[in-house]
Amino acid sequence: MSKTPEFRNCLLQVETYVPGKPIEEVKRELGLDEVIKLASNENPLGGSSKAMEAMKKAIEQIHLYPDGSCFELRQKLAVKLGVDNGNLIFGTGGDEVIFYFAQSFFCKDDEVIIPECTFSEYETSAILMDINIIRTPLLADWNVDFDALTSKISNKTKAIYLTNPNNPTGTLISSDKIEYILNNMPENCFLFLDEAYYEFVDDPNYTKAIEWIKEDRNIIVLRTFSKIYGLAGTRVGYGIAPTRIIDLMEKVRLPFNVNSIAQCGAIAALDDVEHVNTSREVNFKGKKFLYAEFEKLGLNYVPSSANFVWLDTKKDSRYVFKELLKLGVIVRVGAAFGADTYIRVTVGTQYELDKFITALKVVLK
Ligand SMILES: Cc1ncc(COP(=O)(O)O)c(C=O)c1O
Repeated sequence: MSKTPEFRNCLLQVETYVPGKPIEEVKRELGLDEVIKLASNENPLGGSSKAMEAMKKAIEQIHLYPDGSCFELRQKLAVKLGVDNGNLIFGTGGDEVIFYFAQSFFCKDDEVIIPECTFSEYETSAILMDINIIRTPLLADWNVDFDALTSKISNKTKAIYLTNPNNPTGTLISSDKIEYILNNMPENCFLFLDEAYYEFVDDPNYTKAIEWIKEDRNIIVLRTFSKIYGLAGTRVGYGIAPTRIIDLMEKVRLPFNVNSIAQCGAIAALDDVEHVNTSREVNFKGKKFLYAEFEKLGLNYVPSSANFVWLDTKKDSRYVFKELLKLGVIVRVGAAFGADTYIRVTVGTQYELDKFITALKVVLK
């Protein structure tokens, strides 16, 4: 066997991403006929039918490279958001935009601040750029400890990551607090504001993201077609930022990174207002149902602004995960986020939630 040539030391620190288990794998492994996946915050209603039609049609042109600039998608989305075409960058999922950001801006001796218990890819991208990461704690109610976070800001801080609503806790950070950070961070610092669950939020004062971009702040906002639009399998996400920031990130973007089927699906999904509205309704009803069931079971949960709920099972979450799996329900184990008794459950259809609650009662008995 050959010896692997020298590799970058930072790779030793990276924990390979472990995604939610695929349904077919669980069926195979456990010999189950029916498995329900409430582990990856996907849309339980599926993709929009308009997007499906558009994607089927797009297959006819599959021998051609996609539009590298995502022109039509860019134009349509820019109008919808009220920004310029140049304020957008598209990625193969929002994940890719997170990496483009890190590759574009992190220099030797930079530091980034990431609150604990959040989406893993900010940390991974920062590790791969070999820079220093400062983790700040959450409060007992799972909200970001704002004082702890702001106390860590220094002249070395190159980026502050905020996830709003946060994954896995579903908590929101107020616009006032975000604005405070924007007003008080050093000139050489970015705010990376991840709004992957933007469309699920039901709070009139939720975000001023577009305003902050128009004010030409050092901010990058992340959104995605993977969640409410139900297009997780096609992988389209986007960053919104002042053009001077986007122009630099475009230099690291891979040519043709968003495939043609994905582009067509995303364009059509933007027109499917009915699908978005129904998805929101199903989500609100589903959360209400879950909260009531958790209360009956005497379990604590964090009220969520997204399409998942963070639940304290009061047992080892790895055990709960495994036992739920045996009953055909896949959830996300909280231990992966450093929370030993918590699970994160995606809000599914009523049928899926009934099955989950029935299984949960068996496991916790
Ligand atoms: C907070 C957050 N940001 C970004 C993403 C990335 O989404 P995608 O790469 O599917 O667009 C996710 C996916 O789960 C997420 O939860």
